[in-house]
Amino acid sequence: MKTPSASTSPSELFEAHYRELLGPRWETLRDALLEPEIKFPMSNPWARELPAVSDALLDHYLLDPASLWPAKALEVQPGEQVADLCAAPGGKSLALLFDLVERFGLSAITDFRLLCSDQSLARIKRLKSVLRTYLPPEVLDRVEVFHRDASRWGLYESDVYDRVLVDAPCSGERHLLQQPKELKKWSKARSRHLTQRQVALLCSALQILKPGGRLVYSTCTVSPLENDSVIEQFQKKRRGRFKVLQSLSAPPLGPLSSGAFPSEASASDSFITQTSPPHPPVKPTRSAEQTRWGWQIWPDHCQGAGPIYFCVMEKE
Ligand SMILES: C[S@@+](CC[C@H](N)C(=O)[O-])C[C@H]1O[C@@H](n2cnc3c(N)ncnc32)[C@H](O)[C@@H]1O
Repeated sequence: MKTPSASTSPSELFEAHYRELLGPRWETLRDALLEPEIKFPMSNPWARELPAVSDALLDHYLLDPASLWPAKALEVQPGEQVADLCAAPGGKSLALLFDLVERFGLSAITDFRLLCSDQSLARIKRLKSVLRTYLPPEVLDRVEVFHRDASRWGLYESDVYDRVLVDAPCSGERHLLQQPKELKKWSKARSRHLTQRQVALLCSALQILKPGGRLVYSTCTVSPLENDSVIEQFQKKRRGRFKVLQSLSAPPLGPLSSGAFPSEASASDSFITQTSPPHPPVKPTRSAEQTRWGWQIWPDHCQGAGPIYFCVMEKE
């Protein structure tokens, strides 16, 4: 094996790092990550069911089917206050709102409140535009958007929210491999810095969560250092203040537990619709894999979907 030297390029260091982390699997994973991202049309229930607004709203949002799972794992309920800490551009915010009304009907939104934050002003603008394009005014009234560093949110509020989603900034290897300019900026130190930000976001999320409330951590990286290891660091920092929920066999995560993808759900499940897909339907070979603390959806095993990691926790 070549020893890294001062002249080793970031892409060579990146390759060596992931080969060390993931072993021979990295080769097939890298090939899958170089393929174009898979997008599925998520049906907008308001556009579908409210004729008065249907012309004004877009009827499908395209997203990686693996991204649905962290949003569904949050299992939001009517009447709850939910915080989405790293929300822009809004895919998972929409997914959790759509999931709520698919399970409980359009009236489920009446007393519901969703707070979305993001640190990037440019991405906040995109988030607001996405929300306006998919949600009717009475639903927009239930959603608040804040430009803030969510790792500091816990300084201002405690024990307020029923559920919190941390869809954290991460190494996103698909993006890095497909954008050579971004790959040039990669370093181990950068990944280490991300883990510190991820733990800080989790500490803040735990602070604003009510006791008994649910916290979902998700990333789009295959790096165990930014996934299970972050959960372990969080456990050390906040020992006894939360537990990881590892038995996810409950019906709301049926597609996960049965080994089928959301796209293979029954015809009555309109959360993911197969009508007029802009891409051919995916026939996944395997489903999410359980890791030490969470779940990983690997693109090499799920016909290109993912990568997505998520871990479900409950505040003690
Ligand atoms: C993986 S993306 C979120 C994707 C989004 N949840 C979705 O499904 O469309 C991570 C986001 O975290 C934001 N971010 C990074 N650090 C943050 C912080 N300290 N507070 C709030 N947002 C942050 C980034 O600007 C980026 O938009």
